[in-house]
Amino acid sequence: MADSPLRTLRDVATLRATTAAARAKGHTVGLVPTMGALHDGHLSLVRAAKQRCDLVIASLFVNPKQFAPNEDFGRYPRDEAGDAAMLAQAGCDLLYAPGAEIMYPEGFATTVEVTDVSRPLEGESRPHFFGGVATVVTKLLLQCLPDCGFFGEKDYQQLLVIKKLARDLDIPTEIVGCPTMRESDGLAMSSRNAYLSPEERRIAARLNLVLHDAIKEARAGEAIAEAEAEAARHLLAAGFSRIDYVAMRDAETLAPISALSRPARIFAAAWLGKTRLIDNMEV
Ligand code: PAF
Repeated sequence: MADSPLRTLRDVATLRATTAAARAKGHTVGLVPTMGALHDGHLSLVRAAKQRCDLVIASLFVNPKQFAPNEDFGRYPRDEAGDAAMLAQAGCDLLYAPGAEIMYPEGFATTVEVTDVSRPLEGESRPHFFGGVATVVTKLLLQCLPDCGFFGEKDYQQLLVIKKLARDLDIPTEIVGCPTMRESDGLAMSSRNAYLSPEERRIAARLNLVLHDAIKEARAGEAIAEAEAEAARHLLAAGFSRIDYVAMRDAETLAPISALSRPARIFAAAWLGKTRLIDNMEV
């Protein structure tokens, strides 16, 4: 795009040459992978990357492999020019926006599968999801070879999956998790919030409050299973149409817990009409 406010790279060779030149000068490289539809949560990743790295690259690729056929790939918001303007404003140095023919050329036949931490929660509700994420993130890390990759804790399970794949595949990139950014009423920022009607948006704010309440109850000694069940009931009563899960889990392994003896997090996925929201927080 000739008039983009940000230099935009579209192929692997140019990306590699650019990051190699930076490294030859002794500069560190930070990568912020995104699917676009940017909001302040993404920009906070860019800001974190700027604090750690000399050259900050954001990638933009709406990854078809992480959407099931019945999901929102077709209607996922796309505005590359708007995203580039926001990234430039946040101080990002480069945009890497490959086409599908670069990421998945004819005959592409490889899937990266992380077992254990991929299996529960999102893995049960969206069985296709982590294979798609792990495959595209592995490709992005190998294409860019950044010193650090930045990912939001909003997708905490995704962060664990990516840490594991980088470790298991000896990808020499430090995976950095960054705190969830929230709206003033506590709703976790997400590109999918744009789908919500005004009434749904009002109800959506209940999600983080109900999770806070469940944490309070569990800390006060209520059984974990009861705190989870009560949170699910409260979400339905608040107007959520369906609950995929509300679960307190070990923060490292995502194994179910029956007591708060180790670091834990509470995770939820719930539907408002056609929109699926997720959130999680430290217990
Ligand atoms: O979190 C996202 O936006 C996506 O899952 C990611 C990491 C960019 C991979 O497509």
